[in-house]
Amino acid sequence: MSESNVVTLKSTEEQQDLIIQSPASGLCLQGSLRVPGDKSISHRALMLGAIAQGETIIKGLLLGEDPRSTAACFRALGAEISELNTEEVRVRGIGLGQLQEPVDVLNAGNSGTTMRLMLGLLASHPGLFFTVTGDSSLRSRPMSRVVKPLQQMGAQIWGRQGNSLAPLAIQGTLLKPIHYHSPIASAQVKSCILLAGLMTEGQTTVTEPALSRDHSERMLKAFGAQLSIDPETNSVTITGQAHLQGQNVIVPGDISSAAFWLVAGAIVPGSELCIENVGVNPTRTGILEALSMMGADIELENQREVAGEPVADLRVRYGKLKACEIAGNLIPRLIDEIPILAVAAVFAQGTTVIKDAAELRVKESDRIAVMASELNRMGAKVTELPDGLEITGGTPLKGAEVNSHTDHRIAMSLAIAALNATGTTTIHGAEAAAISYPDFFESLIKIIK
Ligand code: S3P
Repeated sequence: MSESNVVTLKSTEEQQDLIIQSPASGLCLQGSLRVPGDKSISHRALMLGAIAQGETIIKGLLLGEDPRSTAACFRALGAEISELNTEEVRVRGIGLGQLQEPVDVLNAGNSGTTMRLMLGLLASHPGLFFTVTGDSSLRSRPMSRVVKPLQQMGAQIWGRQGNSLAPLAIQGTLLKPIHYHSPIASAQVKSCILLAGLMTEGQTTVTEPALSRDHSERMLKAFGAQLSIDPETNSVTITGQAHLQGQNVIVPGDISSAAFWLVAGAIVPGSELCIENVGVNPTRTGILEALSMMGADIELENQREVAGEPVADLRVRYGKLKACEIAGNLIPRLIDEIPILAVAAVFAQGTTVIKDAAELRVKESDRIAVMASELNRMGAKVTELPDGLEITGGTPLKGAEVNSHTDHRIAMSLAIAALNATGTTTIHGAEAAAISYPDFFESLIKIIK
């Protein structure tokens, strides 16, 4: 990749260091850019394409490591998936209930979505045996949140620590429909149960305490599943034994990736950025609401609907930010954006409190502990709460050595913080960005003026 005076990448065999050297004269960010395809929608398009009848054509697929893990798993389960590229991926589905027994362990890599959603499908394939694993981060993340409801449906699943950690072994069996009241607002849990429900005779309902992202519901409907939604109770009901037909899917840009540029544009003096073609599904736009509470200057332009998902171009201009409180039902609508919101809070006047977000402790890293420790290394005032962060803004940041803890969103959040720090910041483990944003560094270089 090309490098600039500000951004340098140093690679060894094991890892990459991103070095950001902020010029004494300052820098600003200008221009238009496109973010890669939405990760959640990319996973679902590959999975539903694989279990539908006929061909699914996906345009704009995210080429990150996580969807590559999904594609590899579903190829091993019998689906034909063409080489992954952003223009057009063709998936020849095998039909509902027709997954094949793989000859080896299914590896979900770093991807919680791959493992949790796939478990719903595997558990409901009678007579087949599967083993699933992931990288060291995924092997430490809780799987009981999907194993328990699947067991209520009759699933046979075994794993480490009381069947709660991968590697997991699954003996597929005929499942029965249930009404599951999920204790957490999690689209991964909801989607896992809905996919398992697809294979049952009868109706499966998931009720969650707050609404989580609804991409599965939208896409299942588009593929022909019978689905009803009760917004009053945050419940979704799916009728089993549906006929799923392959579709054309156009994946919008990922708002979770756009979030890095929204915050960068808002905190770096003199900046103006336009992020084009971003998915603005209301279950994902909590970041826009939080930044607006902080006083950020963000406009939605050219709002439109593309293949069942709302899309817009997002324009952000630098401006002064103020602290806010982020809590409650807003949390599931911005759960992946909290690391970068913490960076925004460091540059906002006052004390920002983020709470009700204990889920962050079981993401790709413990994002509460990691963001507090790494931002504090740069001179920020961040305190860990059991379920969030307290951030007192206004103290200037100084360059430091920080670490991604192999978490893609931490690597990119620290890179944005470094743009506004004096001196040199080195981010160890920067290669993690490729999980969801392989071109992140190129885009960064392109907009630095
Ligand atoms: C996702 C749901 C969220 C999110 C993850 C992707 C999905 O996780 O954090 O990055 O695609 O369903 P939870 O459902 O565990 O909250």
